[in-house]
Amino acid sequence: MTLMAAVMIAAALLCLTAGCNQKVEETAVTETVETSVISTPTPTLSPTPTSTPTPSPSPTPMPEFVEPKITPAAWYNGFVDPRTVRATVVSDPDDITVLVNKYYTLTADYEPSDLVAVPHSKSQQLREVAANAYQAMYDACREATGKGLYLVSGYRSFSIQTGLFQRAVNNRGLKFAVKRNAYQGRSEHQLGLALDLCPEGQTVYTDNFGSTEVGQWVNQNCYRFGFVRRYQGDYIDETGYDDEAWHYRYVGEELAAYLYENNMSLEAYYGRCQVLPGDE
Ligand code: DAL
Ligand code: ZN
Repeated sequence: MTLMAAVMIAAALLCLTAGCNQKVEETAVTETVETSVISTPTPTLSPTPTSTPTPSPSPTPMPEFVEPKITPAAWYNGFVDPRTVRATVVSDPDDITVLVNKYYTLTADYEPSDLVAVPHSKSQQLREVAANAYQAMYDACREATGKGLYLVSGYRSFSIQTGLFQRAVNNRGLKFAVKRNAYQGRSEHQLGLALDLCPEGQTVYTDNFGSTEVGQWVNQNCYRFGFVRRYQGDYIDETGYDDEAWHYRYVGEELAAYLYENNMSLEAYYGRCQVLPGDE
């Protein structure tokens, strides 16, 4: 073997050896990768599945009714006997704008939670917001006319109203009672938001309140304090009551101004004017 041949054989052997090593390294890398893929994964805490809440449909409030005590419906000179109509129980009696009349009733146990004693009154109570408004109206009336107001009747419970309606029927007859006196549950006085007024110095309200200076001032300015004159000659067919110059109702300044400016009853505002016989 020549020297050149021996060198070539040695080089070839070296090359062969290096190739084998390369192959081994590649295999090792491959195995490392594969090992990493098949290794048991560290368990991660699986989140506790929170079940998607099924939205419960908000229940549609079912109206409750007070069925007529007497049937069929009885009308006297255009005024219906409240005992002969089916009344819907109001669902929001604490709302200062709530409608209560012969057709929309309060429950026997409803009593406002914020009644307060009222100054310039016959030991009467009103809801606090109405009492404050009354005081403001009293002060303004006194400043404008030189005379104050007197609250003859404010909050009346269901049982007081029961006695008043029955007394009106007994003493003045059913025809009178149905145009002037609310049946129990159907009076705004039970809301603690109604006021029967007279000029200070008197202790009873009278039909002529509307023609007194104080009565006229209240009629024209009550809305500025959140009050409306509920029962007016123009509204008789809508409200179901005769004109009552002395009866005011607190509804808040915004609604009171709207009703005053539009010469609108609360029934008309809600689109719930009474349906007269023959209009059904
Ligand atoms: N006089 C009104 C209608 C009432 O009794 O509430
Ligand atoms: Zn009244």
